[in-house]
Amino acid sequence: MNNAAQANHHFADDARDAVYQAIFSRRDVRGQFLPDPIPDEVLARILTAAHFAPSVGYMQPWSFVLIRDAAVKQRIHAAFAEANAEALQMFEGEKREIYRELKLEGIVESPVNILITCDRDRAGPVVIGRTHIKAMDIYSAVCAVQNLWLAARSEGLGVGWVSIFHQAALKEILGLPERIIPIAYLCLGQVSHFYDKPELEAAGWRPRLPLDELVYFEQWGQNDGEGSEALKAVLREAQDAAATHRRFAIK
Ligand SMILES: Cc1cc2nc3c(=O)[nH]c(=O)nc-3n(C[C@H](O)[C@H](O)[C@H](O)COP(=O)(O)O)c2cc1C
Repeated sequence: MNNAAQANHHFADDARDAVYQAIFSRRDVRGQFLPDPIPDEVLARILTAAHFAPSVGYMQPWSFVLIRDAAVKQRIHAAFAEANAEALQMFEGEKREIYRELKLEGIVESPVNILITCDRDRAGPVVIGRTHIKAMDIYSAVCAVQNLWLAARSEGLGVGWVSIFHQAALKEILGLPERIIPIAYLCLGQVSHFYDKPELEAAGWRPRLPLDELVYFEQWGQNDGEGSEALKAVLREAQDAAATHRRFAIK
């Protein structure tokens, strides 16, 4: 691409930084929700961001079930608690003790919960792009989740994804038809604060992996190749900058 073309398509520096800021400062929020309601305008913007996600064959397989009623939230929370007790038993020793202390949802405290779903039949039996890998509709719905998550962060709202459920319980409580798959149960609201680091990282559960070890060249597992050392050095710098919320240097 020549410089003139780049100049036409490149975001202004502040706008570009804002995109990266949303990405790097997004957190999964569980315990910092405030009860303040989310204004309809804000909810409309973040749902619109979700609806503008890419989707295979332009299927747009998502729907959004908004849950604000305390009684419905209580039923969802009970379904979480049952699954979470089972989950605890799947870990052993020290991990089980750490797990026991983790708060893994904010269902009741957050003012709005949203279930993002995937309608596997939204665009008929044969979908362009989904002819061979059927799960592409699921991947598309997940793109909507991420759009919503980042848009919410830019609005100052926290989002927490709760996945510790029996899918059948979620479907039963919210009345989902058979063909509708629950993709993401999200808790949304204003927050007292955002943590700098993922909570699981801070709790010593897992570190963030070094990106330069996850990039291969031409073949799976091949960690070196033409220009690899130079790129890996820049990757390390970029990861370090992202982790500390510093801006990327403009080259
Ligand atoms: C598919 C998916 C499911 C998740 N399920 C849960 C969950 O059930 N409970 C929870 O506390 N966090 C859940 N998370 C959040 C992750 O734990 C979190 O994204 C990860 O620890 C990194 O932290 P960060 O999102 O703050 O960067 C989920 C995230 C994803 C993408």
